Amino acid sequence: MLDPAAARSHAEAGVTGLLGEIGGVGTDPHRGGYTRPVYSPAETDLRDWFVESATRRSLDVDTDRNGIIWAWWNPARAPLTDAVVTGSHLDSVPGGGAFDGPLGVASALVAVDRLNRSGLRPARPLAIAVFPEEEGSRFGVACLGSRLLTGDISPETAARLTDSDRVTFAEAAVKHGLDPRRLGRDDEALGRIGVFVELHVEQGRGLADLGQPVAIGTSILGHGRWRLTITGEGNHAGTTLMSDRRDPMVAAGALITAVREIARARPGARATVGRLVPTPGGTNVIASRVDLWLDVRHRDDAVTGDVVRSVGDRARTIAAAEGCTAELVEESLSRTAHFDAGLNARLGAALPRAPLLATGAGHDAGVLSGHRPAGMLFVRNPTGVSHSPSEHVEPVDAEAGVEALTTVLRDLLTA
Ligand code: HGY
Ligand code: MN
Ligand code: MN
Repeated sequence: MLDPAAARSHAEAGVTGLLGEIGGVGTDPHRGGYTRPVYSPAETDLRDWFVESATRRSLDVDTDRNGIIWAWWNPARAPLTDAVVTGSHLDSVPGGGAFDGPLGVASALVAVDRLNRSGLRPARPLAIAVFPEEEGSRFGVACLGSRLLTGDISPETAARLTDSDRVTFAEAAVKHGLDPRRLGRDDEALGRIGVFVELHVEQGRGLADLGQPVAIGTSILGHGRWRLTITGEGNHAGTTLMSDRRDPMVAAGALITAVREIARARPGARATVGRLVPTPGGTNVIASRVDLWLDVRHRDDAVTGDVVRSVGDRARTIAAAEGCTAELVEESLSRTAHFDAGLNARLGAALPRAPLLATGAGHDAGVLSGHRPAGMLFVRNPTGVSHSPSEHVEPVDAEAGVEALTTVLRDLLTA
């Protein structure tokens, strides 16, 4: 167990101090913010930072066969069942903010410091979990680690996912010390979870508008990702008459505008094309194909399906008008997740002033909520902007988040 002096220094460093320790890891000079794809040197440095921070607190740390890191605080040496689990992720989107993921991990470390310093010796074990590839920024499927844990994705599908350099997840996993043959649903690890509560920066303006520092999460919009491939005819930019072209980039441009129009026509729908890759991608080359990725979300899964079908139909029509073809492939889909009502009642009793807030952002807690009682706490982000360097949390709100998490964990540990 951490000696009191060291515990005091960590606890007083607070969550802002802990985040300051990793503030220089994975900074992106081109995009701004942070680019920390899973198993990249930057994210690996963050995982090492977490393991070192947890070990310094005398937590028992191990990484499971899906690459999830578990740091156990179990002063009673109780059996690892019915645990209270918290945590989040350390990977980021390209050019992401400082808080999306790390705030939940750092807050969990400080909360354990405070519970430990308070003299609490809980009968139930607590774990801090760090999930790999929550953003799906490298291998394309969000919450890949928690989906493997729960069996929401098959190990075969996960193993053959590739990144932009055609490196498979299996190859990256091997480089990171995992055995791809052991990826997949882990009933033993899942069975250890009694309840999961994830603290996360809010990725919208809800708390800023409500004037509150912390909220309790209620649900996560259903969301999915689809790859659209538009195929035309590659050719020379200078020798090909405009009338002789089958240009997939022109079709892609028309389609992106159509996506916005289709989403706007469905109240509450959100549809985004955030990534587009032309092949071959030369300035003086008419592209032969364009791949673009569609992110669609809605609280009603049927509406999500409708929007995607409409986009697919429109893609084929627009492509045909350009002498091209279009193909739509689903890459991942999560139904709308509703957090556990019983757990939320408990969180509400522990945090009576915290408002309830739904979110449009996906989280590992959303995946776990289909298998174990799960909930979330959100911390105010005054900019309301996320997946951007503009994402922000004031130190006073980060501290309010830690206090709320500590209160909730103490309540659950002594239940
Ligand atoms: O995409 C999301 O909603 C989450 O931030 N991974
Ligand atoms: Mn996140
Ligand atoms: Mn995110």
